[in-house]
Amino acid sequence: MYQASIIGTGSYVPEWVLTNYHLEKMVDTSDQWIIERTGIRERRIASGQETNVTMGAIALERAIKDSGIHVEEIECLVVGTNTTEPVWPSAGGHMAKLLDLQRDLPFFDVQAGCTGFNYALFIAETLVKSGQYRTVAVVGTDKLSSITDYQDRNTCVLFGDGAGAVILRQSEREGIIRSHLGGNAKLRDLLTLSKKSSTGNGYIKMEGRKVYTFAKRAMVQSCLRVLDPSGTADHKELRLLFEQVNKIIPHQANARIIMGAAEELESRLELPDGKAREKMIITIEQYGNNSCASIPLALDLSLRSGKLKRGDLVILVGFGAGLTYAANLIRL
Ligand code: ACO
Repeated sequence: MYQASIIGTGSYVPEWVLTNYHLEKMVDTSDQWIIERTGIRERRIASGQETNVTMGAIALERAIKDSGIHVEEIECLVVGTNTTEPVWPSAGGHMAKLLDLQRDLPFFDVQAGCTGFNYALFIAETLVKSGQYRTVAVVGTDKLSSITDYQDRNTCVLFGDGAGAVILRQSEREGIIRSHLGGNAKLRDLLTLSKKSSTGNGYIKMEGRKVYTFAKRAMVQSCLRVLDPSGTADHKELRLLFEQVNKIIPHQANARIIMGAAEELESRLELPDGKAREKMIITIEQYGNNSCASIPLALDLSLRSGKLKRGDLVILVGFGAGLTYAANLIRL
């Protein structure tokens, strides 16, 4: 069995900044309400020309540059996304074309709500570890603004656009250690698309409170399962495993969900106050929830700012429409 390591990361966000003050003029809300209930101050919104494909391609180009490989070394391209228009052919195909890849290679999209990047990374991990491919590119990209109803204050304050990418390569050293994927289809109606938008794709509709409760529980469960896949460790063993983790990159849906999950971990593992909270990486204040982009974007930004360094043990944990949830345990 081979190992699969992240050898490069990249990200992209659109230039246009939509602040809470802009939103105050669009719906019945306030900067104070949004900050207190979500932790968000601003989010990036794609221009009319930008799509999940164009944003993803820029993030991928940056990840390729960061890794030092040549674009033609990519043997497979896996894209986590929910906002490809039209829905086929896949965003992966469009991206390969934009990057002007000269040879044939497999490419496909993974549609798993905001958990798409975690699922895509797991698929890539499996492809590299099995020896099928040596170099696989993984992209998380979404243009949620295209399915957001800017008259619905329950949702429009949350979402933004962006993309992130990683290059995964067969290696001797430990990289993606393992992943845990989950899903609860009974809860699918909590997060759906209405059929009212002008594009015909519909707008996001959600039962925010119920998604909130699910999200907190699912993130805790997935963090613990990725550390202890057999579920046999007692809480002391789990605590030791957890203490080795340097940082957690959660899906950036709501700062309160993230801190709530951290508090729950502290209570379950009998950790001193703040010990899980200090591990949480939060970028939501500036970027809001940009779905499949949120985790690879936070990963790239954290590596660039020095919050994360090579060798760190990190959990990427997400949840989203489906309802789905997942975590990847990685050594950077
Ligand atoms: N401004 C002002 N008031 C608002 C706003 C707003 N933007 N949105 C809702 N309210 C009101 C509600 O109407 C409600 O009023 P009422 O009591 O008169 O009915 C009140 O605020 C409280 O509403 P709650 O829903 O209980 O507020 P809550 O503290 O739960 O926060 C929120 C709402 C932010 C949506 C929260 O539930 C949440 O983050 N849920 C998870 C959402 C999520 O992560 N979705 C995406 C997952 S998938 C993906 O990432 C694409």
